[in-house]
Amino acid sequence: KAIVVAVDGPSGSGKSSVSKGVARRLGLRYLDTGAQYRAMTWWMLRNGVDLADREAVAAACPKPVIVSGTDPDEPSITVDGTDVAAGIRTAEVTGAVSAVAGVQAVRDRLIELQRQIIAAALAQSAGVVAEGRDIADVVCPQADSKIFLTASPTARAARRSAELGAVVAGGSAGTLADLARRDAEDAKTTRPHEAAPGAIVVDATHLTLDQVIERVVELVET
Ligand code: CDP
Repeated sequence: KAIVVAVDGPSGSGKSSVSKGVARRLGLRYLDTGAQYRAMTWWMLRNGVDLADREAVAAACPKPVIVSGTDPDEPSITVDGTDVAAGIRTAEVTGAVSAVAGVQAVRDRLIELQRQIIAAALAQSAGVVAEGRDIADVVCPQADSKIFLTASPTARAARRSAELGAVVAGGSAGTLADLARRDAEDAKTTRPHEAAPGAIVVDATHLTLDQVIERVVELVET
């Protein structure tokens, strides 16, 4: 079915796993917009762009060619042909991404790319689960379903440190502090991270991944 499902939520809410799972269940494509902001950041770091200089970031942002593969079983992301799926998950990129995402020229460029990807899928009668903080209100306000996933801060930190694999300095307490720092920074440069108007809030704190997927599939189907 050619529908668009917008999924957002704070980091560690499980939004990536849930979005992929829902896309698989419903036979839809999967678009991870956070991966694109991370890919842009990876390229800026690689090319020595001074991230504190917003004009330099704006001037450089048209350069990298960012390509997102939207198969939920095998999502991919390349920059100028280089596979950066792992490279965009480093602490360095995570620590820098908010600054890059806060530059309007970056957002304009990536939002346009995201709209193209969604339009291309719809043109082939394929639907899309698009994950990211501004899908429901900016990228695709006409989305058929809008979901905002939440979880308690402790559940989010536990999930994120499990994802990062065992030994993160400070364990889940350190991760909790990192998440809070990035949330605060994102809220400064973009907007407060909260459910968009019309989004249905799903609290994942006491649910397994499969249960959350089930709940979202139900919401999309009704
Ligand atoms: O790690 P987490 O799931 O929190 O975030 P992500 O989805 O990988 O996105 C990384 C960063 O990209 C966010 O912290 C935002 O700064 C930025 N971002 C954004 O500004 N707009 C989006 N639609 C998606 C991500």
